[in-house]
Amino acid sequence: MGPVRVRGEGGSRGSAKNIRRRNNIPERKVNPGELMIEVKNLSKSFTDRPVLEDLSFTVNAGETLGIIGPSGCGKSTILKLLCGLIQPDGGEIAVHSKELGLVFQWSALLNSFTVRENLALALRGRRLKRSDEEKIIIDKLKLVGLADYLYSFPAQLSGGQQKRTSFARAVANDPKIILYDEPTTGLDPVMSTVIEDYMIDMAKQFNPASIVVTHQFSTWRRTADRIILLHAGRIQWQGTAEEATTTDNPYMKQFAHATREGPMLASDMGL
Ligand SMILES: Nc1ncnc2c1ncn2[C@@H]1O[C@H](COP(=O)(O)OP(=O)(O)OP(=O)(O)O)[C@@H](O)[C@H]1O
Ligand SMILES: [Mg+2]
Repeated sequence: MGPVRVRGEGGSRGSAKNIRRRNNIPERKVNPGELMIEVKNLSKSFTDRPVLEDLSFTVNAGETLGIIGPSGCGKSTILKLLCGLIQPDGGEIAVHSKELGLVFQWSALLNSFTVRENLALALRGRRLKRSDEEKIIIDKLKLVGLADYLYSFPAQLSGGQQKRTSFARAVANDPKIILYDEPTTGLDPVMSTVIEDYMIDMAKQFNPASIVVTHQFSTWRRTADRIILLHAGRIQWQGTAEEATTTDNPYMKQFAHATREGPMLASDMGL
């Protein structure tokens, strides 16, 4: 399957370019290589149990950082810290844009609002003309194959459809920073590929700085330029997806081969 195209970039009246022009919305593109996320010596504990210790990394515009690691190692916590939902105990976090989209691990749709309204909320700050707002909502829903579900409520959608709605909402504004928490988990393989293709296409078109937290092999292998493997609060390995499959690092090897034997003991994960 070829890459999914961002619709509406042609020359028609309803194109994304014309919508931007009519509503005085600045061009979304940022310069590749611009430093967008800086994390320095970050630490976070929950009720005295350390989750993250002395964590440092950066993400530039146009780059996708993959964060992998066992369940409970603190991946979602990093994303929550980056978007200010929770506060760190130590260290520094600098996020160099307020235009941030977040794909939550558990969809986080508002249940009393329709799919259309959930997306409209994300666009509210832009004060778009009604017809332009409608166009963006339908375009983004088309990307995830849900244009027919405009007036459905989240409870009427399957888990995967809710996830795809959450994805469409997060990218509604073509944000400069996108944080994906398990964007493909729970989706069928074809829909996973569609979402991955769109993430790749977004990265090419708008140069956002992205972080993708995922357990899904195809997702980090296809979308991430660089990967960090987290365990026991620290980065145990980092490198490219290519290097991940060939490295001798015992953590990465254990993770890649999904074995119980290795430095990441099940007992560390409370099992
Ligand atoms: N608000 C909270 N209060 C107390 N403990 C928390 C809180 N949020 C997270 N934790 C704990 O912090 C640890 C890391 O949680 P986090 O959700 O970041 O894991 P994760 O790496 O995203 O796991 P998964 O792959 O299962 O999604 C877990 O042990 C969790 O129980
Ligand atoms: Mg998580």
